Amino acid sequence: MIIMSSWSPELGLKVYGLAASALIGALLFLILLIRLFTYFTLGVCKSQKKMNGKVVIVTGANSGIGKETAMDMARRGARVIMACRNLESGSKVRSQIILETKNPNVILMKLDLSNLNSVREFAAEVNQSEKRLDVLIHNAGMANTFSKQTTMDGLEITMATNQYGPFLLTHLLIDLLKKTAPSRIVIVASELYRFAKLNLDNPNPVNTLPAYLYYVSKYANIMFTLELARRLKGTGVTANCIHPGMIDSGIWRNVPFPLNLPLKLIVKGFFKSPKEGAQTTIYCAVSEEVEGISGKYFLDCKENGLSEGIQDMAKNKKYWEICEELVHLKATDPKI
Ligand SMILES: NC(=O)c1ccc[n+]([C@@H]2O[C@H](COP(=O)([O-])OP(=O)(O)OC[C@H]3O[C@@H](n4cnc5c(N)ncnc54)[C@H](OP(=O)(O)O)[C@@H]3O)[C@@H](O)[C@H]2O)c1
Repeated sequence: MIIMSSWSPELGLKVYGLAASALIGALLFLILLIRLFTYFTLGVCKSQKKMNGKVVIVTGANSGIGKETAMDMARRGARVIMACRNLESGSKVRSQIILETKNPNVILMKLDLSNLNSVREFAAEVNQSEKRLDVLIHNAGMANTFSKQTTMDGLEITMATNQYGPFLLTHLLIDLLKKTAPSRIVIVASELYRFAKLNLDNPNPVNTLPAYLYYVSKYANIMFTLELARRLKGTGVTANCIHPGMIDSGIWRNVPFPLNLPLKLIVKGFFKSPKEGAQTTIYCAVSEEVEGISGKYFLDCKENGLSEGIQDMAKNKKYWEICEELVHLKATDPKI
């Protein structure tokens, strides 16, 4: 009764104000805790290995994780081939890398992974200009949300960019990698594969919701890595895949309004920076600890387990054969 009688609009405002401040404070504290957790569990590549005299290809090196990976490789002294579809932004990033690392041996080449012809042209140029290839980093990737797109080759665009282009490119560069052995292939996959399944009866899912196909393409990346590693046994070429963590990068650019608004908050509040996100790729590309290791999945610079389903090697072999057909592998192309 006493409380009720002393209640006033001013007091009500004060109470609401206090409650709102407490809520915001609790939220900020939660963000701080999560950021601290991310900071302390973050995998960092501690290898000091120099890469002088070595040649490294990084696809999608003009932004995000790829840019940071290329920067690191250049800093270690490698000859870095930036394989990019956007030569304008690629050229700016190349200049920045050269300026920051003082390594002029950074080359920019055109590669559109969603176009099989472009993949062939890029590979032909590399095979002609390079005497060796020490590390091939399949970093480039894209994610669509709702807009369905089919490439000139009749392939669904997310699967073409994230899986079929890299599959063909690996074939066309495999002889150079074998010649340079010990050499490494690193494939940037994602933990999001756990939300997907790959239907062998529909490997080119032009009518499926594109947002889901990002997960499927990352599932495909891991199946590809496992079968690739199996086929490369004894050649001195290793193949591993990684999850970089959730990163504040351009990969989220196709999320439409208004879904992009809460997403932006989450990305800015909780996700890793591209430099942090590049650590596991760098680790697999250079670390002495990974020497000779093949067919594994890494996360935060540590080997990580995979779901049972994705390790069905009979299914992975069958998928490999389907990929060969989808990319129109020719009799004259190298076989793996
Ligand atoms: N960000 C994350 O949270 C996260 C999580 C797990 C895995 N990943 C993976 O990490 C990799 C790097 O992505 P990111 O996060 O750094 O995103 P990003 O900043 O968007 O970088 C993606 C790169 O791929 C390139 N690319 C896209 N389509 C291409 C094509 N058709 N041909 C050649 N290059 C193409 C982009 O070039 P343009 O600039 O021309 O578009 C860009 O350089 C991707 O494989 C992604 O799936 C990311």
